Amino acid sequence: MREKIVVFTGAGVSAESGLKTFRDSGGLWHEHRIEDVATPAAWHADPATVLGFYNERRDDMRKAQPNPAHTAIARLEEAFDVVVVTQNIDDLHERAGSTRVLHVHGEIGKSRSTVDPTLIYDLAGAHIALGDLCEHGSQLRPDVVWFGEEVRFMDESQWHIERAAKVLVVGTSLTVYPAAALLDDAAHGAEKYVVSPDAQNCPCDYRLLRGTAATVVPYVVACWLEGRSVT
Ligand code: OAD
Repeated sequence: MREKIVVFTGAGVSAESGLKTFRDSGGLWHEHRIEDVATPAAWHADPATVLGFYNERRDDMRKAQPNPAHTAIARLEEAFDVVVVTQNIDDLHERAGSTRVLHVHGEIGKSRSTVDPTLIYDLAGAHIALGDLCEHGSQLRPDVVWFGEEVRFMDESQWHIERAAKVLVVGTSLTVYPAAALLDDAAHGAEKYVVSPDAQNCPCDYRLLRGTAATVVPYVVACWLEGRSVT
């Protein structure tokens, strides 16, 4: 049986693809207030602004390409049982070739009905406009998780991380719960790394590998594929 690896990612894994993070200087939450664009209350108060924010994110995602971190993570599937648990709403892991990606905060590439959450549509890069309706006649919204809404795939993510022999955390401030709490579910004896350019937010039983995703992740992946230890 192949060894299980969970790769847990945040906005920093896509930073070198040109997508903004949320909390770094110049990040999205410095330009926009969460309560204006990423909550159910914002949607009820001003859906046009919310749609505009996510349409911009989708445009940026379409222009971006996977970087060497995404590509290296996909290569792990050559030798390991890999599950990517991502907080990102972009599709760069899939476009790099990863086949098992759990989007705990949803996906910007999809829209969904506001009356039936099981009605999800592939947008193929298109904008969602006011007046775009699901088959029951209700306004479509982005298929993303807003603050105050239920995070997806938590049980499944927990199941995988508990059984992982290796856990690689990349590009996240680990400030948003419950997603960040998944790291606590990793086995005590698992090999656990955090890749980040800054030293903040590295849980105590994880080892910090300081640097950017596109430089450090390919190194870790090469070590694992070649059976070497990460030094
Ligand atoms: P943040 O913006 O909070 O954190 C990004 C992290 O990436 C920071 O720790 C940076 O130091 C790091 N970083 C920046 N550039 C990097 C690079 N080139 N390589 C590696 N790391 C780099 O983003 P997230 O942790 O993903 O949720 O944010 C979590 C959630 O907060 C998001 O999913 C989103 C947001 O609000 C919702 O909207 C529900």
